[in-house]
Amino acid sequence: MSAGRHHTGGADVSLTAYDVIPYVARAVPPSHPLRLASLSTLYGGPRPPTHGYRVLEIGCANGANLLPLAFYDREVQAVGVDASTVQIDAARAGASGLGLDNVRFELGDLRSFDAAGDLDGTFDYVIAHGVLSWVPTDARQALLALCARALAPHGVAYVSYNTFPGWKLRGTVRDLLLQQVADIPDLRARAERAFALARENLDLLELAAGHPYMGLLKIELKLIERLELEAVAHDYLEATNVPFYFHEVAAHASACGLAHVTDARFSPSGLMEIEGARDDLAEDDFTGVALEQMIDLLTFRQLRASILCRASALGAPPALAEVGDLTLRSRLALPPGQVDLTDGVPLEVEDPYGRHLSFGAPLLKALLQVLDRAPGGWLALAAARRQAEALLDPPCDAGESRELPALLRLLDARACSS
Ligand SMILES: C[S@@+](CC[C@H](N)C(=O)[O-])C[C@H]1O[C@@H](n2cnc3c(N)ncnc32)[C@H](O)[C@@H]1O
Repeated sequence: MSAGRHHTGGADVSLTAYDVIPYVARAVPPSHPLRLASLSTLYGGPRPPTHGYRVLEIGCANGANLLPLAFYDREVQAVGVDASTVQIDAARAGASGLGLDNVRFELGDLRSFDAAGDLDGTFDYVIAHGVLSWVPTDARQALLALCARALAPHGVAYVSYNTFPGWKLRGTVRDLLLQQVADIPDLRARAERAFALARENLDLLELAAGHPYMGLLKIELKLIERLELEAVAHDYLEATNVPFYFHEVAAHASACGLAHVTDARFSPSGLMEIEGARDDLAEDDFTGVALEQMIDLLTFRQLRASILCRASALGAPPALAEVGDLTLRSRLALPPGQVDLTDGVPLEVEDPYGRHLSFGAPLLKALLQVLDRAPGGWLALAAARRQAEALLDPPCDAGESRELPALLRLLDARACSS
């Protein structure tokens, strides 16, 4: 990661690739602590506090994710850590410009951070977005161990990373570009050249017959044109970018005493989810990590954002009555008029990504109708369930055991957000 050395205030500090080309970091909505808390609760993980909580971000870059969090909720206590002097300086300038005293940014290498000492205690939320795949092996080993040390007993961590099988193709584009810029030592010059190379490769592929591989490669190459130079430099042309199979990260987490709760719904760029696949695979005895891995393999998943907790804090999903106060919002625009709630009659809808979804089960359809009409869009789970049951004739006999799984299926299908 080191790209040279320079001096700040008399101290000799390593210059990283992110000092040379700072990342264009942005807020990461799926990592928002309130979202992590509700997903963890729904999937049997711990319930971290949702007021006055402590949050740590590892690899926080210019603070773009923590600054809005600390700005909009002054009760939050936030700490960001990053190894890049330039980015930490930018983050500190952001905090002082906004007059924030509830967020601080620490310059340092995650490999040498002592959670309890250097970071002053444990955290309800630990976020590491875009770090695990982007750092060398020793930092990768240290990252999940640091998450485990930094987490409060009831805390949850959000760790995102590039995954197989989807990254096999993106990695092919990386290999293609790396081959072609091998003689350019400067990272910025490499990235500048990569835009022209992506176009040249696309032109070359236009000459080829319509093999499906060419089609996929074209989609990936076209993505480059839409990216900023900084993203091309760090995501495609830097020395380290290592994708993982989900089961590898789950095993690594387990070795650190952490368990996988669920995914924070970081949209895979393929945006594929096979309706009913989870149910069918579960019937074939796929559960837990194996089930998640099968879904990734079937859907060509490229990115994951795992919610992790201490292994001892993971339990069974709660009964609906225990989480009735959590709120839910539909992400679908239902056709106007009454939904036909007859069992098996499909309700056909498009999700915000243009993905086609079909629901046949009366309870799911009733829930979607209720949520679609909720004033302001959000509704507490208990109220949504009551109103959905009231729509069913004959009345729903689903019972507690089926209601929460039904709601979770809407979340899994990304028909709803919580
Ligand atoms: C790909 S960027 C992601 C930045 C930000 N989290 C985002 O997603 O926009 C990776 C970040 O990790 C930081 N980083 C890399 N190695 C590190 C280390 N050993 N210790 C601390 N931070 C590190 C980099 O400086 C950079 O800001």
